[in-house]
Amino acid sequence: MDNNKIRIGLFGFGVVGQGIYQVIKKAPNAHAEIRRICVRDINKPRSVEIPAGLLTDNADEILHADDIDLIVEVIDNAEASYRIVSSALRRGIPVVSGNKAMIARHLPELIELQRRHDTALLYDASSCGSIPVIRNLEEYYDNDLLLEVKGILNGSSNYILSRVFDHGESYSDALAKAQALGFAESDPTFDIEGFDSLFKLVIITVHALGVYVSPDDIFTYGISSIHDSDIRYAREKRVKIKLVAQVAKVGNGCFTMFVMPEFVRSNKYIYSVDDEYNGVVVRGECYDRQFMFGKGAGSLPTASSILSDIMARRHDYRYEYKKMHYLDRPSYTTDITLRIYVRYRTTPVLDILPFSKIHEQYISDDSCYVIGDILLSELIARRPQLAANDIFIANTSTFFEHLD
Ligand SMILES: NC(=O)c1ccc[n+]([C@@H]2O[C@H](COP(=O)([O-])OP(=O)(O)OC[C@H]3O[C@@H](n4cnc5c(N)ncnc54)[C@H](OP(=O)(O)O)[C@@H]3O)[C@@H](O)[C@H]2O)c1
Repeated sequence: MDNNKIRIGLFGFGVVGQGIYQVIKKAPNAHAEIRRICVRDINKPRSVEIPAGLLTDNADEILHADDIDLIVEVIDNAEASYRIVSSALRRGIPVVSGNKAMIARHLPELIELQRRHDTALLYDASSCGSIPVIRNLEEYYDNDLLLEVKGILNGSSNYILSRVFDHGESYSDALAKAQALGFAESDPTFDIEGFDSLFKLVIITVHALGVYVSPDDIFTYGISSIHDSDIRYAREKRVKIKLVAQVAKVGNGCFTMFVMPEFVRSNKYIYSVDDEYNGVVVRGECYDRQFMFGKGAGSLPTASSILSDIMARRHDYRYEYKKMHYLDRPSYTTDITLRIYVRYRTTPVLDILPFSKIHEQYISDDSCYVIGDILLSELIARRPQLAANDIFIANTSTFFEHLD
């Protein structure tokens, strides 16, 4: 690309796409120009005014154009996103994308397409919006010292939990407020069941440790079955419940990863990550812990991250995936013991879950709970039973205590 403007074909003109249009206007040094915008419905009313003729509903008008240097893909459909991004890469066109669901599912193939067609796919916006997690992990933490990346990666669920803990609202009121404010989708499953955090964690792990783990192989548990009794219990213990995603080395050349609600004590950085904010803690040998905090979603915050990738691409930046080529990469294990809290009512939890040790137990007519040690692999094997809506589980995080 020369010093002239970088010519962009934009896919998607929703929350993020309109934000990109606005931030590019605020950033003359980006020398970026949106040449065409592909949407699903060309006749839909738009709140951002754009020149007539910019919109199209024909993807080929961008994919086959010879006046487009870079494609920015921010649509809300993972399958269509995969078709657009893979076909652009096959044509050697660099892409910036924010689509975590698509990237987490197809990353190995997308890495191979970049290599084969000598082009780049950048996606910092896909993981924690405006917080530059991916490029930092890729470039700065490129050594063996990195031990753990852990954080609150989903703004919607964090907003709901903040309203419940800090403002005493009920879970359903908090969810309705999150939807009204646009933090949660009209179908909030993706956010509150932990899948949004899961997809981000998969991407983060590739750049943290150089290993791709399929989302299907990772234990993921959300917050939808949280109950007043869990909140009462957490308050009594002076902890907050947060939806936490983590990847951590656990010794013997292995690492583990999962997404689960966690009892977080007030001496932890993520304890004070509230509302729709995200926070990521990176822990390593020699430097202990570092903390990144910021807006993980929203129109302009996400668009600012996309702009950063556009500018990086102007300077021919690409992820090298260096850690994926290390000889000594850690292996994924689920053979680790977690100490978890399980609240239940009628489901026979003690028959279902093979605890190796029980530390605390409470039984009443309304609600029961048990805190015990169990292998992560056993939780994975019992995912269908754990989906019962009278069950809520949370990591008490003691497994990692000695590492903190
Ligand atoms: N919202 C956030 O805060 C955020 C943060 C980080 C990452 N992301 C990611 O960014 C992406 C977009 O999110 P969003 O919130 O901007 O979604 P959105 O507001 O629902 O907008 C989606 C856009 O995609 C267009 N679209 C859907 N299918 C299409 C297709 N087949 N071809 C062309 N255009 C198509 C829609 O067109 P119409 O307008 O005609 O319907 C719409 O403009 C998602 O992957 C999301 O995970 C979002």
